[in-house]
Amino acid sequence: MEKRAGDSALIREAIQARENAYTPYSHFRVGAALRTAEGKVYRGCNIENAGYTPSNCAERTAIFKAVSEGERNFDTIAIVAGKEGEELVPPTPCGVCRQVMMEFCDPETFRILLATSPEEYEVWTLAKILPLGFGPKDLL
Ligand code: THU
Repeated sequence: MEKRAGDSALIREAIQARENAYTPYSHFRVGAALRTAEGKVYRGCNIENAGYTPSNCAERTAIFKAVSEGERNFDTIAIVAGKEGEELVPPTPCGVCRQVMMEFCDPETFRILLATSPEEYEVWTLAKILPLGFGPKDLL
């Protein structure tokens, strides 16, 4: 999928979001910035837990923040990740986050920016990273 004006600004928001990552266990810090169809941006970071399983990924934090504010229509998510104190690495959303995206996003049009800087990123669609995804339409 093509790059667009505004992608770099969204990646910068994801980099800012990563500043709040709470990662005392993995020290792997992730930031996400989710843009709605109307252009509003919701940020998210990963939030870990001493019980491990309650940990939440950056992507889901951003999506749940937005949905809890009444948003359902999403255009693009930017994601950045890397070990504490190290360079950013190419991120890849976990399977649970892909499934949560499937609930709220059109797999053919939802844009996923996997970034290592505001200028260096790849644009994927949800359909590409979650082929044959099971979503709300499959229950109709
Ligand atoms: N994590 C995310 O927040 N997003 C991803 O795309 C991959 C993994 C988090 C979960 C956990 O806090 C840490 O990264 C290591 O798995």
